[in-house]
Amino acid sequence: MNKSVVEFQKVSFTYENSETGVLDSLNLNVNDGEFVSIIGASGSGKSTLFRLITGLEKENEGRILINGQVHQNRLGTVGYMPQQDLLLPWRTIADNAALPLELKGMAKKEAHQKAAELLKGFGLGGYEQRFPSDLSGGMKQRVSFLRTVLSGSNVLLLDEPFSALDAITRLSMQEWLLEQWEKRKHTIMFITHDVNEALFLSDRIYIFADQPVHKLKEVQVPLRRPRTLSDLNKSEVLELKEHLINQLRMKVVQ
Ligand SMILES: Nc1ncnc2c1ncn2[C@@H]1O[C@H](COP(=O)(O)OP(=O)(O)OP(=O)(O)O)[C@@H](O)[C@H]1O
Ligand SMILES: [Mg+2]
Repeated sequence: MNKSVVEFQKVSFTYENSETGVLDSLNLNVNDGEFVSIIGASGSGKSTLFRLITGLEKENEGRILINGQVHQNRLGTVGYMPQQDLLLPWRTIADNAALPLELKGMAKKEAHQKAAELLKGFGLGGYEQRFPSDLSGGMKQRVSFLRTVLSGSNVLLLDEPFSALDAITRLSMQEWLLEQWEKRKHTIMFITHDVNEALFLSDRIYIFADQPVHKLKEVQVPLRRPRTLSDLNKSEVLELKEHLINQLRMKVVQ
């Protein structure tokens, strides 16, 4: 059941006002139900990859297929949580969560009902009428994630969702995200700078190493599921971690 949900066929992309390309005839393939992390130095093109998948940027050459199809307009075909996703401070938690449904034209009352059910499931029951400023960092990220899930898409793109969290909250959010993923069977693409986070969460890890990137380096994570944090101390994982850190370090030295 290796159904491809995100596929790049020889995709090239350069920003209009820029001389260096970001992608150069890149192929990639993410299958249904996979959890794939993307790591790479700052400025290597990770967020741009997501902006291309969402349709916010348009490829110069090549084809991008979502769920096996080329879409004239890709906007709205995937759930996207941008880097530094911000909740609207003047909207309540319920209003923030229901936003994607309202944007799709669902009646406000129905949108709220649907959002409220999910808020409970995400441990945010009772916070519907509060405002983002009343929530902790981890809770805000859960609301942002919920908004992404409410897009209704089977593909979720999460751009460094936990980077602003303290280490302990971050660990519990990672466990929480895995639970959600196992329960909902989405396909997740996840950008992070944290090698441990990528190893703990993913089936596969893509590494942005060149610029423009022609071929993403790729590793499989040799861990079964369910996982625990202590799995990260297994010798094969420690070796892989060193390999990944070296790949990232090479990029900085160049
Ligand atoms: N709107 C834009 N116009 C022109 N160049 C851009 C634009 N957005 C990003 N870039 C450039 O494209 C390259 C890739 O940027 P991108 O944001 O994809 O990197 P990133 O890997 O997500 O970095 P970070 O880890 O810091 O978030 C960088 O050189 C950046 O300066
Ligand atoms: Mg980025």
